[in-house]
Amino acid sequence: MAETRFLIDTYLDWIKTEGIPIVEDFGLDLLSVEVKPWARLGARGAYTLLKGRGDFIDTYVLEIPPGGSTEPQKHLFEEVVYVLDGRGSTTVEAADGSRHSFEWGTKSLFALPLNARYRHFNTSGQRPARFVSTTNLPLVLNAFHNLDFVFNNPASFPERLGEQRFFKGDGEFISMRPGRHMWETNFVPDLSTFKLQEWKARGAGGSNIMFVLADGTMHAHMSEMPVGTYKKAHRHGADFHIYPVIGHGYSLLWYEGQADFVRVDWKHGTVYAPPDMMFHQHFNTSPEPARYLAVAFGGLRYPFSEDKKKTFLGMDVSVKDGGRQIEYEHQDPRIHRIFEQELEMHGHRPRMDEVLAGAAR
Ligand SMILES: [Fe+2]
Repeated sequence: MAETRFLIDTYLDWIKTEGIPIVEDFGLDLLSVEVKPWARLGARGAYTLLKGRGDFIDTYVLEIPPGGSTEPQKHLFEEVVYVLDGRGSTTVEAADGSRHSFEWGTKSLFALPLNARYRHFNTSGQRPARFVSTTNLPLVLNAFHNLDFVFNNPASFPERLGEQRFFKGDGEFISMRPGRHMWETNFVPDLSTFKLQEWKARGAGGSNIMFVLADGTMHAHMSEMPVGTYKKAHRHGADFHIYPVIGHGYSLLWYEGQADFVRVDWKHGTVYAPPDMMFHQHFNTSPEPARYLAVAFGGLRYPFSEDKKKTFLGMDVSVKDGGRQIEYEHQDPRIHRIFEQELEMHGHRPRMDEVLAGAAR
């Protein structure tokens, strides 16, 4: 009798055949995740699946040994890479034969143009290079459930390559309005020094930038919180993966009506993903401004889903006005008290009042 076929997740079934660890958690330390030899990539890797990853995207960690390189890759899914540690280079070969290469280091961000052939190199002879990739393979593999279509597809997408300077660390600033200003590129050499744009409505003295990478549907943005401050809480659908870049702090997460908070402590190397419509709020406890990168599916240019459209329009609008944010004056009073205690433990004082007063001037 034929096997009954139902509830098939082609993506999850397939990654089990890849021969590398699959770890799943609410949050993870990507710098210490165990990686094992991965024949397809010719390096070491692990799939790192977050509870709040949503239906469309996944992440994996790749470690390239000193002086090593990956096998050439080409695939019909998008990939956004954040470099956790080390330095190296990537060569991209388009369908028209044009070649592009760039050199990355710790805290670089780049995207691989759709279905272009590429290869990564570790240019250090001493140290491994480790990065995390966020991809929309779950979407693509579950939609087509045909590996040949995904990994051996002749379609070309020249429009995804962008301008030559996009591979060199340059880009195009696209002015929109606070919280929606965009930087279009394929490669950001160092997120820790990238210039951000003021965004008062999301919280005390904050700033951000939206990235458009390789004209893809993957979203990426970076936000910064000044010393002694925290952002306003908000909520949205699943799949925003948070990668802290500079500083340390913690985030509180809760579902509406829930009495207790879930807490995640973070620093560079951490990843976590707020689950679907779970409120979350980020707190900086470090002596420097704290930055984090967020990668998701469906960006400001190509939001893809109704939820992303609502998020990009309402993420800094009060829930009382139909948006998705809790204003400071409406938040649970415990939130500010916890922050004061945390800062005292770290030997700092809150700067919320002075930063907000400065922003109001
Ligand atoms: Fe968020």
